[in-house]
Amino acid sequence: MADKKLSTDPYKGVRDFYPEDMAIQRYIFDTWSHTAESFGYERYDASVLEPAELYRSKTSEEIVNEQTYTFTDRGDREVTLRPEMTPTVARMVAGKRRELSFPVRWYSIPNLFRYERMQRGRLREHWQLNCDLFGVDDYTADVEMIALAYQTFINFGADPEMFAIRVNNRGFMEALFKEFDVTDVDTVAVLTRLIDRKDKMPADDFREALDDMIAPSRVEEFLKTIEGRDESILDTIGTDTTLKQVLSGLRELGIENAFFSPSLARGFDYYTGTIFEFFDVSEENNRSLLGGGRYDNLTGLFGGDPISGVGFGMGDVTMRDFLETHDLLIAPITSPTLMILPTDESFNFEAQRLAQQFRAEGISVSVDATTKKIGKKVASADKALVSAVIVLGEDELKSGTYTMKNLPEGTEEAGTVEELLGKIIT
Ligand code: HAM
Repeated sequence: MADKKLSTDPYKGVRDFYPEDMAIQRYIFDTWSHTAESFGYERYDASVLEPAELYRSKTSEEIVNEQTYTFTDRGDREVTLRPEMTPTVARMVAGKRRELSFPVRWYSIPNLFRYERMQRGRLREHWQLNCDLFGVDDYTADVEMIALAYQTFINFGADPEMFAIRVNNRGFMEALFKEFDVTDVDTVAVLTRLIDRKDKMPADDFREALDDMIAPSRVEEFLKTIEGRDESILDTIGTDTTLKQVLSGLRELGIENAFFSPSLARGFDYYTGTIFEFFDVSEENNRSLLGGGRYDNLTGLFGGDPISGVGFGMGDVTMRDFLETHDLLIAPITSPTLMILPTDESFNFEAQRLAQQFRAEGISVSVDATTKKIGKKVASADKALVSAVIVLGEDELKSGTYTMKNLPEGTEEAGTVEELLGKIIT
């Protein structure tokens, strides 16, 4: 019986990165790093493997119960492929709390794994820019975080009208719930998670679930409040002024697309203060592009005094969808500048030798050592967006002078390697 042929498809929900995709991925990562570093953030990293217990107490219930890739290793340890980076960075900061000088500003671009129901913008492996700031309790740190996320969009060439920033605060939510007589810690957590799922469930089911927590006579009023954007309630509900300060701080920095969104909940249990999400406003791609917030007690999981943190995660899949939707994706070129085309296989090695001379001067060069006819080699180089080609045959080898053809312009230059070096347009 013939062996079953293996599929060339990748595992369900993950992507292969062919060179064109890799070029886009690199462009996204480079813009992310450059923006994070322009705000003074330093890069860190960690393994994709973490002890499963790291996620049990504080990550979102949905992620831990339904979405983690967890297995038992050969030493009987429960291991999880990280579904998010925040517990990892909290572990790392807590582990070096004595050596670090606060405030700590760190960023990373980890790949994360979630066993999700796949849909546009949601896969089982994605990369996420994570920026986190530890050791500043002040509202200005929350403003900085949102301003940094905002700046990445501007650096991709986006217009602020293309996206909207929703801002809320967990403390404010608690104060609001209190107005509706929901004060018990467990019910507060259940209500927060319910609001987080609001847009993913039928309106009637949401209303019915509210009935279990809020007096039925006040459900309409509650709904109206969380669906509105009325900032005047910030003056009457609760005593904390952070949310007001964050909103006005953003506006003072010229960030006009941020607004108060009382129905924004964020699914993670660790958030304690400001929470925010960025949304694509285009009908075609109306989804969340990033999310983050303040978590003041996460490092407390590892003992010692809690260190306050605030940060966000921005995904590569949603970023690419956003850039494509708004025509902002610049296709970066990764082909070599110069290609040497030997006219016969017997010149393949000489072609490598010639290539080395150009490489030594910092020019990226490759050799087409296939058996294709020279016309076909030139056409392939042109298709691959190579800038220039040198055809290498017997005459060139004897004379040591070469003809270099500039493909986009269709012009030619002749000379020795030294002479041609100055004429290469990179
Ligand atoms: P999150 O809201 O779960 O937050 O994810 C943040 C972003 O990552 C999302 O807005 C989306 O762009 C992307 N993302 C999440 N899941 C997927 C998926 N399955 N496929 C593709 N993209 C996805 C967090 O993870 C928090 N830990 C962020 C944070 C950092 N909070 C504070 N610091």
